[in-house]
Amino acid sequence: MNTLKERIQQLKEEKNAVILAHYYAPPEVQEIADYIGDSFYLSKLAVKLDNPVLVFCGVSFMGESAKLLNPEKTVLMPDASADCPMAHMVDKSVIDAARAQYDDLAVVCYVNSTAQIKSWSDVCVTSANAVKIVRRLPNQHILFIPDRNLGHFVAEQVPEKHFLYNEGYCPRHEFMSAEEIAALKEEHPAAQILVHPECNSAITAMADYIGSTSGIIHYAGEHTDCREFIIGTVSGVIYKLKESRPDAQFYFPKTRPSCQDMEQITLEQVAHVLETGENAVALPPETVSAQAKHTLEQMLKLAQ
Ligand code: 13P
Ligand code: SF4
Repeated sequence: MNTLKERIQQLKEEKNAVILAHYYAPPEVQEIADYIGDSFYLSKLAVKLDNPVLVFCGVSFMGESAKLLNPEKTVLMPDASADCPMAHMVDKSVIDAARAQYDDLAVVCYVNSTAQIKSWSDVCVTSANAVKIVRRLPNQHILFIPDRNLGHFVAEQVPEKHFLYNEGYCPRHEFMSAEEIAALKEEHPAAQILVHPECNSAITAMADYIGSTSGIIHYAGEHTDCREFIIGTVSGVIYKLKESRPDAQFYFPKTRPSCQDMEQITLEQVAHVLETGENAVALPPETVSAQAKHTLEQMLKLAQ
């Protein structure tokens, strides 16, 4: 009798499929993935891979982006209901009002967004490349959507530009408790605080480092003189953190931050979609997909 992992391996070979997982996916899913990474790494990778079938262990905007960039490939989502609430938090009227106000406005869209929202925008960014891309834009006025926290973080790094914001946020990072982080620091004064820019400003104000999930993992990997870290992002990153720094201690807020949507993905679901081809991502209508794909390609170009 094959184990579930052996079954997945066998199905992957039969279908010439590859499994991609975000750092927030459960550890057992990251364990069977061919590639694990942040949103930027996974979107770059999706374009490079030759396999005709991609199994995306992440939320819907990630699968949708992979499909937009590779319309000829089959992108399977193990859990079709895994979605990112922030990806929907933009009202078109916010964009229309900003465009009416500034002629040279660039609408900069965090990749955590639906294809429809991307299609209203000029360029996509991820948390790993947002600063670099905004600096490289010729535009003076920037409307940053959907995430106001990431928008404010980018604005601080690019003070020469004028920013407008949208009232979107990631509930997991926005409602993380600054008091719980401060309590951890009191308990472990030697620990450095590493946080994601989606966190609220009370948390980023305490941080020694603010960066994407891969940025946090690299920082801990490089700062070998430090053996204790307080982590302000979803606890799924522990899998890679422990792998790169088995000698270090990682502390998360007492109310453990979890991205339930990614954490609900199971090995059974991975095997099921490989077996049946169910939950294949459909391309949005041509009017939406052409412009949404363009904003993603602009990101890949400007991030080089
Ligand atoms: P990364 O850009 O670090 O992959 O983060 C994505 C995300 O959804 C964070 O909440
Ligand atoms: Fe969305 Fe937040 Fe989950 Fe990231 S952690 S996918 S922003 S809900």
